[in-house]
Amino acid sequence: MTTTTSHSSAIVAKGLRKAYGDKTALDGIDLAVPTGSVFALLGPNGAGKTTAVKILSTLVTADAGELRVGGHDLATDPQAVRAAIGVTGQFSAVDGLITGEENMLLMADLHLLSRREGRRTAVELLERFDLVEAAKKPVSTYSGGMKRRLDLAMTLVGGPRIIFLDEPTTGLDPRSRHAMWGIIRELVSGGVTVFLTTQYLEEADELADRIAVLNNGRLAAEGSADELKRLVPGGHVRLRFTDPAAYQAAAVALREATLPRTPGFARAGGTPMDEALSLQIPSDGSQRELRSILDWLDSAGIEADELTVHTPDLDDVFFALTGTADVSDQPEEAVR
Ligand SMILES: Nc1ncnc2c1ncn2[C@@H]1O[C@H](COP(=O)(O)OP(=O)(O)O)[C@@H](O)[C@H]1O
Ligand SMILES: [Mg+2]
Repeated sequence: MTTTTSHSSAIVAKGLRKAYGDKTALDGIDLAVPTGSVFALLGPNGAGKTTAVKILSTLVTADAGELRVGGHDLATDPQAVRAAIGVTGQFSAVDGLITGEENMLLMADLHLLSRREGRRTAVELLERFDLVEAAKKPVSTYSGGMKRRLDLAMTLVGGPRIIFLDEPTTGLDPRSRHAMWGIIRELVSGGVTVFLTTQYLEEADELADRIAVLNNGRLAAEGSADELKRLVPGGHVRLRFTDPAAYQAAAVALREATLPRTPGFARAGGTPMDEALSLQIPSDGSQRELRSILDWLDSAGIEADELTVHTPDLDDVFFALTGTADVSDQPEEAVR
């Protein structure tokens, strides 16, 4: 078996820069995506995700940076890169006026497949993406999820080993999103390398081996979901009460308390109107901290009805790194 070191990374970028006029879209980013893995570029609108995908897939040239995709240098051998990859853009590339099948056959022609081979590939992919029934209908009648699946099916016609997916599930309903996740997982289990962009923390957490958080053209962090979660505080112990009086007393005691890690820091949550009377105490979830919190609760005579330990999630990470609390609050880009 012959493998070269260049094949251990499907995608490598060093010092990638791109500006549009005086607007810097990518401000020197470094990435390495191991072959056969899923890499998520996570960031809010305008972060530079599409720019990164377009550059790495040869559609736009970088201003600076050392870039290799599939072992080929993007600057000197873009043709070889093009032959190795498939790209599904943020906005659908399918032609709405013709049928799904016709779109697939067009793609087969572009890849110079023989007529027979093209038909065979089209049928196979339409089946795999659950589009057999829709195949003879114009794409303009498809749902968003169906268009996305067709888009991806078209991307796979040439059998690429590296695939770029720019926001593959933006605008999809939860069911279609889960279907897309299933398809992506299947691709990866077949050894394909997937580079995807997303605004959804859950999606990155669900699919990606490694996640890079992109904000304003810069990488704010890079790592596995677990590594990123460890970067930020945000873990806490939550106490729930059913008795409003007990809740009130605990809230007062907590405000006056000097807790081991962050004195006086307690957030009283919950409204007296419902049963969600809860208090949060910051904690890293370690045995030592939990013990001192429990000791303190005992000594203060506080008895919560429920005590739960929360570790930080990707939302906490995103907030800490980008200052954007909830990406879904951002204005939606026009989705076809
Ligand atoms: N063709 C272009 N001309 C000028 N500015 C652009 C162009 N494409 C992207 N930009 C700008 O570059 C930044 C990054 O855009 P983009 O890569 O599309 O971000 P994302 O995909 O993360 O939403 C944005 O500020 C955007 O307005
Ligand atoms: Mg984009």
